[in-house]
Amino acid sequence: MLQQKDDVFDNSICKAKSINHVCLAVKDIEESISLYSKIFGLPMPNIETISEQKVRAAMVNVGNTNLEFIEPIDSDSGIAKFIKNRGEGIHHICFEVDNIENSIEQLKKAGVKLIDSQPRQGLEGMIAFIHPKATGNVLVELIETLSSDGKG
Ligand code: CO
Repeated sequence: MLQQKDDVFDNSICKAKSINHVCLAVKDIEESISLYSKIFGLPMPNIETISEQKVRAAMVNVGNTNLEFIEPIDSDSGIAKFIKNRGEGIHHICFEVDNIENSIEQLKKAGVKLIDSQPRQGLEGMIAFIHPKATGNVLVELIETLSSDGKG
């Protein structure tokens, strides 16, 4: 049985090494972070404004992984539309991969619908989003962090 499981992983399209972060879309980032901090004892992070994406964002470390908080600063940002349609809550999960270029190529070959057909620069590495229609209505982000490839 174990052997079978290993085979499945080896034949996967895009091997996830770990969950890099889970992202929450929120209306008021300070309020949400202090709520989570109060309940779960999380550290207070720096909040950054990412103007081109019309959001404020913060990454909060939780053990081996992170929680990302995103607040829209403009009503026509994707995050604002997400909150309007679905309310506050989990926006995406992010899997860490070894080689994002290779992962994207494999996903394309397998016919998995992508949002980003090329990796792009994120805050903490190269990232790409898979279309939620391909992953059970869950938005999935892939990241190759600077440390993923052993370079830093
Ligand atoms: Co993210």
